[in-house]
Amino acid sequence: MTPSHQHEFSRLDTFTDPAAFAFEQSKLASIWTFLGLASDLPNDNDWFRTSLASRSVFVQRFGKQLRAFENVCAHRSFPLRNADKGNGPVVCGFHHWQYDREGRAVGIPQCRQLFGKTPHELNARLTEVEIALCGDFIFGRFRGLGTSETLEQYLAEGFPILEAMSGGQSKRRSIKKISESQLEVLPSDQSRRLSHRCRPSRHARQAGIPEARKMSYFRFGPHSAYFTTPDRTALETMATECRAGEWRSADFRLFQMFPNFIVAHFMVDHGFWYVVVLQHVAEGPDRTTMRSWFYPAPFPADRSPLKRWTMRLTELVRPHLVGLALRHVQRQDHAVCENHQTVAHQMPGKRRAGAFEERAVWFEEAYREAMARGEALA
Ligand code: FES
Repeated sequence: MTPSHQHEFSRLDTFTDPAAFAFEQSKLASIWTFLGLASDLPNDNDWFRTSLASRSVFVQRFGKQLRAFENVCAHRSFPLRNADKGNGPVVCGFHHWQYDREGRAVGIPQCRQLFGKTPHELNARLTEVEIALCGDFIFGRFRGLGTSETLEQYLAEGFPILEAMSGGQSKRRSIKKISESQLEVLPSDQSRRLSHRCRPSRHARQAGIPEARKMSYFRFGPHSAYFTTPDRTALETMATECRAGEWRSADFRLFQMFPNFIVAHFMVDHGFWYVVVLQHVAEGPDRTTMRSWFYPAPFPADRSPLKRWTMRLTELVRPHLVGLALRHVQRQDHAVCENHQTVAHQMPGKRRAGAFEERAVWFEEAYREAMARGEALA
């Protein structure tokens, strides 16, 4: 499918039609997308595998540098990384070509006999993924037309906030992957997730989320946020205070970064705040992998003398209880996603509840812009 055929499918088609899905993903390939955490790569040659616009990629540490490449050997396209994470040089398991940190094939067995050239003359390379950091968060994109925008420009007001919420690379933290399950969901369908989170659902009542008039919604670039405060200047204030290192945990905050990244700041006990990071990785029209991490919010917070006094004891069990609660919420989300997918093929052209909510409409607009912009990367 080419850009000229774009009008021939709607976003709903991408939930059921492989060609529409492939075109959507090719358009998203050149947009800054969350890939993972730098703190998951503490040692030289540590790597993790993930995907970018449904293409398998891996991020690897080379000394102080992080580099990312498409997970496809330049020789015969064998996947270079065949596990979720590991440690070691980039050596293909098929014919043992070895690559350096620039993605160049520098070790090719019997190169001159087979190709009549040295590896340097052959100049075979991996496809590089451009990456940039926002604190501990690694973002990546494939280079293409219209990719001059820096990550900081792309995240706009969200950059200093996410940088602070990530906790920075130097802080020791407890980060746990909650789940990485194959889900039958609507790929890239953040609006459904938004509607699920925005409405007064069971989660919301459990979490004590207040009524709509006490919430504030914000739109910045293709992204959005909602806070449980009526203060309409709260986003700007938070960005300023995060830049200055002065922000304090005080209320629920959720950031929805286009296309598939959510960061939420929430209270688990009076005076104790956590951050949960969610990445929805579209694998196919009917399949998405969700990865998530959580850790104590890296901000000071007000706590009663009793909470401070009992903290050493309660900290032994709190992370465990937070993990249980988040898994419970995600199981409910998974069930909703799976049920939604079962009727996706019956819905072409029909609007769903999420389409009537303002933030979901913002997402739809950002999505349409992304589909209309730039080139479709092969
Ligand atoms: S496919 Fe990788 S070395 Fe041949």
